[in-house]
Amino acid sequence: KYTQGQYIITDKKAIACEIYSFTIACPEVAAAASPGQFVHIRAKGYTLRRPISICGIDKDKGTLRIVFEIRGEGTAEIAKLNKGDLIDMLAPLGHGFTLNDTYNKVVLIGGGIGTPPMLPLAAFYGKKAVAISGFRNASAVILQNDFIRTGAETILCTDDGSAGIHGFVTQPFTELAKQGGIDAVYACGPMPMLKGIAAICKENGIFCQISLEERMACGIGACLGCACRTVRNDEEYFAHVCKDGPVFNAEEVLW
Ligand code: FES
Repeated sequence: KYTQGQYIITDKKAIACEIYSFTIACPEVAAAASPGQFVHIRAKGYTLRRPISICGIDKDKGTLRIVFEIRGEGTAEIAKLNKGDLIDMLAPLGHGFTLNDTYNKVVLIGGGIGTPPMLPLAAFYGKKAVAISGFRNASAVILQNDFIRTGAETILCTDDGSAGIHGFVTQPFTELAKQGGIDAVYACGPMPMLKGIAAICKENGIFCQISLEERMACGIGACLGCACRTVRNDEEYFAHVCKDGPVFNAEEVLW
């Protein structure tokens, strides 16, 4: 159940190079939204909307937060909007993460611009979550204080060692997986990262859900640009990342 409307931007911040955070007043969308879903934004002058993952849901205040990177002309246009402007949004869309309040320990793994959708999960799990985030370098790091505020334990990695651990997110995650006691892993980021995490989870028998949002195009089931080979009940089928996902159980995805 999604709606389309024009909503007011109540806050705008540049949080890293070419990465923006918007807070949007949209009570009915916030009421319906859950972690892992996305919003579909229409940039001025463009017909195709741009899918952007949800980074924060405040049902009491009736706001959503989105964090996105300028990746082309459409997102550059969206980034020009300011506090007080209206944003045209179709939301919330897609199939989100499965939440379980009986879990005692979960690991959230975000790579680069795949980190924002992990934040609502940290808000849900709080101290039960370990949030591992990986970035290219120190200047690309985002949201670490937001994760700390949720009570989650944070582990930061950078490819070049300019902040946190020098290396990929899979290194600290391998250690955690060996220690055991993890009820679920949630991840979003580049495909090679997701593939690596899915393999570690399989090896250790850990339930794993991944968000394949990088694979999305139109976002509404119109372009077939998001087909993904999956298997369910031993049957192979092409799933639409935008409608059946963006979140999938890792074991269902045929890489
Ligand atoms: Fe176009 Fe899914 S992104 S059909």
